[in-house]
Amino acid sequence: MNKINIAIDGPAGAGKSTVARTAASQLQYVYIDTGAMYRALTWNAIHHNVDIQDEEGISVLLKKTDIELLPSPEGNRVFVDGEEVTSAIRSNDVTAAVSDVSAHAKVRRQMVKKQQELAQNRGAVLDGRDIGTTVLPHAELKVFLSASVEERARRRHLENVEKGISSDLQMMMKDIQARDEKDAGRDISPLVQADDAVKVDTTDLSAEEAAAEICEMARERI
Ligand code: C5P
Repeated sequence: MNKINIAIDGPAGAGKSTVARTAASQLQYVYIDTGAMYRALTWNAIHHNVDIQDEEGISVLLKKTDIELLPSPEGNRVFVDGEEVTSAIRSNDVTAAVSDVSAHAKVRRQMVKKQQELAQNRGAVLDGRDIGTTVLPHAELKVFLSASVEERARRRHLENVEKGISSDLQMMMKDIQARDEKDAGRDISPLVQADDAVKVDTTDLSAEEAAAEICEMARERI
């Protein structure tokens, strides 16, 4: 059977990673969490005391950093230079810094190249902010996942509580709004819906329902 590539973009907390991972598993495709790649780099920058605003320093660090994503039922396990950072990249420190790291043009060029290589054999579901517009502009299926800010903050808050990460719902709402503004307002590859993307609003949909919609659209295109 022919395989296709699926691009899933959308703001923080829209359910991208759960939906993308569920759809990938049902289609027996590879799931690639591109946000985890930016988070892994951010974690490494903090770890090595590289200034988050120093584009050249971060870009040099990325060239030296081995970021590996391994599949698991809970999503990608993430390794930086062989060290597992799956939980560490979700910490509040990394979350607060990742949008600044990912706004650097040099960093984005290198990351986009890596992501295109990972998807070159097709049969991949990538989630992120610029997959349909920049990483895979020719993806056979592009989905833009959205949900209200309140619902997105509620989901992230619950995720944190479940993982034992300290969390406050009002702060989460502010954090998500700030991250949306940074991701949508940056000069390079801002978060926008690709012209040919299908919009799926997950405010009142479970992740399983959204994934089922995506699998149905994928099967129509295979
Ligand atoms: O998806 P997640 O919320 O983990 O992504 C973390 C951050 O990484 C986003 O807020 C965004 O700044 C950045 N990102 C990006 N491009 C992508 C994926 C994530 O700029 N393709």
